[in-house]
Amino acid sequence: MIAFLKRTGDGYQAKKSKILTKSEIDRFLSSADDKEFLMIKVGLILGIAGACRTDELVNLTVDDIENVGSSLIVKIPNTKIKIPRIFVVTDVGNMLELFRKYLSLRPPHVKHKRLFLYYKAGKCSSQPVGKNTMGKIPSVVASYLKLPDVACYTGHCLRRSSATLLADAGVDIRTIKRHAGWKSTTVAEGYVENQNC
Ligand SMILES: *[C@@H]1O[C@H](CO)[C@@H](O)[C@H](O)[C@H]1NC(C)=O
Repeated sequence: MIAFLKRTGDGYQAKKSKILTKSEIDRFLSSADDKEFLMIKVGLILGIAGACRTDELVNLTVDDIENVGSSLIVKIPNTKIKIPRIFVVTDVGNMLELFRKYLSLRPPHVKHKRLFLYYKAGKCSSQPVGKNTMGKIPSVVASYLKLPDVACYTGHCLRRSSATLLADAGVDIRTIKRHAGWKSTTVAEGYVENQNC
């Protein structure tokens, strides 16, 4: 009973989202048009690579990302549980090329450091992307891929999908916890459970 209350208190059940599979992610990255979807692609890449929460992506700044040629090193400075995380985005497929392309479209006179800027018809504006738009990235991807139940791909999708991809690859729960910055094994397991949306 206590375990149940704790689980419910952690709130993960209410936030369940459908997950995106590796092949769905690959299909989106390789077939969606950059002119329309480049920002969504970069959000998807970073969100999956780092098991990011929506507001972590929103708050990400250009200073949090180090471009080391063959990979990106991304720092998530201030997470909910106050433990910083670092993750690496390696050059799989055209991921780094997409990131660099997006960064190169940053207008020169943007006064803030937020990485994600609104993007339309191949151009970035100086307006930073807000929480609502960021939280819709998974449903935009699902909708493009014509997946059923688009509304079930919530802002939590990237974090869940990331944990599930690792679990499917045989990574142990302790490593997954570290990857996503989870202290509780129950919460971590909840994320990789079968989807129930
Ligand atoms: C994102 O930034 C807002 C505003 O500064 C802050 O309230 C929030 O805690 C930050 N979230 C994360 C996850 O860093």
